Amino acid sequence: MITKNMKKLEMAQIKETYFSEKILLSNFRKDAAAKKIPIIDETAGRFLEGACLIKNPENILEIGCGSGYSSYFLVKGLENGSYTAIDLNGERLKSAEIFIKSKFPDKNCIFLYGNAINMISSLKLRYDLVFIDAAKYEYTAYIKRLMSKIKKGSIIIADNIFYKDKIFSTAVTKHNYRSVMGIRDYINFVTSSGCFKTIFLDVGDGLSVSTFLGN
Ligand SMILES: C[S@@+](CC[C@H](N)C(=O)[O-])C[C@H]1O[C@@H](n2cnc3c(N)ncnc32)[C@H](O)[C@@H]1O
Repeated sequence: MITKNMKKLEMAQIKETYFSEKILLSNFRKDAAAKKIPIIDETAGRFLEGACLIKNPENILEIGCGSGYSSYFLVKGLENGSYTAIDLNGERLKSAEIFIKSKFPDKNCIFLYGNAINMISSLKLRYDLVFIDAAKYEYTAYIKRLMSKIKKGSIIIADNIFYKDKIFSTAVTKHNYRSVMGIRDYINFVTSSGCFKTIFLDVGDGLSVSTFLGN
């Protein structure tokens, strides 16, 4: 039987969690902006959180965890599974590890330093949810290397898929050329290889969500 007092207590707990997380994430964003550290849009983070809740993945892989903002949303709902992060920026990776381990001390999180291009093939697990947010020009290289590390039904989410609408522009600056071509190539791969069913969402800077159909 739910008593009035129990309901009050639950509401107080929800309120406490809601506001403390709001402050935590807001401070994270301010700090990242001050240090010029790129992080995903908050709505993209919330999308990742929801995707993890629905998919309930056993093993999550993040390519380009940066300082751990996106990791927060991926790890938050993790139950018995694992989270593996790769980043080639040692300083950011360390911050991510300290942040995530302080927030979620009981969760199974592994932080790997290095270039994902060279590291994916030596990963031991099969991942049912992968989040790609590293170098745009390498997205296709990551997903091709991931093919043997995922299983039928695995979900690959990639950030910056619309890249501030630059991928639709006919006039690509020299500065953005590699990134724009990289994203276009990735879109082409996930839509035409026959191995994925993909949707594109106008969330944050654009997210692609690809379900692996098998080889
Ligand atoms: C946009 S930031 C990631 C932001 C992070 N996902 C977040 O929301 O907090 C991109 C990260 O990818 C990393 N990166 C770029 N190329 C990489 C590679 N080949 N292997 C591993 N990490 C890479 C960079 O060091 C950088 O920290």
